[in-house]
Amino acid sequence: MIQIDKIDKSKEGYEDLLNQSKNLVDPALDGFTNICAILSLAKYRLDLFWVGIYIVNGNKLLLGPFQGMPACTQITMGKGVCGTAASDQKIQIVPDVNEFEGYIACHSETRSEIVIPAVKDGKCMFVLDIDSTEADYFNETDAFYLQKLTDLMLNLIA
Ligand code: SME
Repeated sequence: MIQIDKIDKSKEGYEDLLNQSKNLVDPALDGFTNICAILSLAKYRLDLFWVGIYIVNGNKLLLGPFQGMPACTQITMGKGVCGTAASDQKIQIVPDVNEFEGYIACHSETRSEIVIPAVKDGKCMFVLDIDSTEADYFNETDAFYLQKLTDLMLNLIA
């Protein structure tokens, strides 16, 4: 059975999440199967509103595995928070989604957002997108550890 204890967003909490995520990976299985397991773990252990990945496909980002309510299924490269993270290949921390020009609203509950690009050989393969119902929910510590979680997932499919 998989232990799902809630953690805070502290360094120790994230280290625990990362270790459990690594241990959950079964190299014999398809990468997306393992990514689904990791995203579910993150959703419940970090008590997130929505977490998922958008996969770069040409000029579009297509909805991949996610945990949470149904969401936008495609985003144009360079548009919204996700498309900006993918085209600029830079983490986007958005403390107030209403202040982000071109923000794409999938859920009215979302107040803040963080998006981490997964880059391999100079190409963005996908982005990890996390939404919170609390304003200003994400900081540099979140960015640091969520980048590690993103890299773990990237290694499973690229
Ligand atoms: N808000 C995102 C769209 C994806 S949803 O948040 C799940 C954006 O502006 O790219």
